[in-house]
Amino acid sequence: MVVRSRPRRSMGSMSAPVSTVEQAIHEALATVDDPEIHRPITDLGMVKSVDLAADGVVTIGLLLTVAGCPLRDKLRTDITAAVGRVAGVARVEIDFGVMSDEQRRELQSRLRGGSTAEPVIPFAQPGSRTQVYAVASGKGGVGKSSITVNLATALAAKGRSVGIVDADIYGHSIPRMLGVTGRPTQVEEMIMPPQAYGVKVISIGMFTAGNAAVVWRGPMLHRALQQFLADVYWGDLDVLLLDLPPGTGDVAISLAQLVPSAELLVVTTPQVAAAEVAERAGAVALQTHQRLVGVVENMSWLTLPSGERLEVFGTGGGAAVAESLTRLVGAPVPLLGQVPLDPRLREASDAGTPIVVADPASPAAAALLSVADQLAARRESLAGKPLGLRPAARR
Ligand SMILES: Nc1ncnc2c1ncn2[C@@H]1O[C@H](COP(=O)(O)OP(=O)(O)O)[C@@H](O)[C@H]1O
Ligand SMILES: [Mg+2]
Repeated sequence: MVVRSRPRRSMGSMSAPVSTVEQAIHEALATVDDPEIHRPITDLGMVKSVDLAADGVVTIGLLLTVAGCPLRDKLRTDITAAVGRVAGVARVEIDFGVMSDEQRRELQSRLRGGSTAEPVIPFAQPGSRTQVYAVASGKGGVGKSSITVNLATALAAKGRSVGIVDADIYGHSIPRMLGVTGRPTQVEEMIMPPQAYGVKVISIGMFTAGNAAVVWRGPMLHRALQQFLADVYWGDLDVLLLDLPPGTGDVAISLAQLVPSAELLVVTTPQVAAAEVAERAGAVALQTHQRLVGVVENMSWLTLPSGERLEVFGTGGGAAVAESLTRLVGAPVPLLGQVPLDPRLREASDAGTPIVVADPASPAAAALLSVADQLAARRESLAGKPLGLRPAARR
């Protein structure tokens, strides 16, 4: 059988009405979302050309946002499936190219709704499905960062898409704890975060020279946090954890303004003095109308070789903070877990491998994994419901 061949037509250059097949191809392409940006590829300026040959072979010229885009195969599969269903299409071929600087700038301004004025924070948009948890403590050294990295890694290991913003201006230690030495890369004004154990990480330390101490004033901090949230290309996150500086400072308040749906997770030790200041850090939620997701007690005890528990920092701090915050906000603030002291936790952190990965069977890791499970379960139960638009006290 001989197929009569006609010259190829290019839709891009055609001004006459397009055929119904071509129309249908365009409609099919409009159903394909970019897997990272979650918007139709046709809206993002990614479809450069569509050529329909007489034998029913469609060649689609597709522009990737960056060369070596890891989601290229996903795009190929989705486009082939969508266009392949169009009657009259025999085969789909994709000719990949890369956007020029000009095209990327155009895309960026499109993503920002045509304006470059105020950066848009995806997590603050009404439809956002990202759970944002700010990890707070009354004072430093209670294990806030250790808990942040372990929860993040545990959630990533469960298949969640996870990011961390290390916003602790005094003691940014997250990259080290995750063994991240890479710096963020920049595509136009988008910052691509380095990744470890499936967790995307941005740290305030990545933007300061060496180990230099920086005096952060409120407005500067606000801008920095805004940039981390808006200009970092996080993709579609299930969970974003923020390691806040200890205490009740500017960062917590800026975060509440930038992402009102962010919820607070309070870390304390069992010590009464620590619990009192932790309570104050949690009480910020009342003023900012944020929800308190719960309390994690760290350094709860040390198990001696005899099996006996040595309560190095006393007992009851976590439960006390949970109770008083519950009373304060008028909604349940549970004690989500008690993490024992374990030298392996510190060693794993120092080596850049969180203990939930390095030694998941250890009691400290088990306690952290259980907290991660509770956060994950919480997210499932929230699926489909509007998130975080109401203050905790008035639920
Ligand atoms: N449960 C624990 N067992 C042993 N060491 C811990 C534990 N939690 C934290 N540490 C260690 O204590 C130190 C302070 O913890 P870190 O997470 O940096 O606290 P923060 O972020 O609150 O300042 C780190 O050296 C860390 O490895
Ligand atoms: Mg820290």
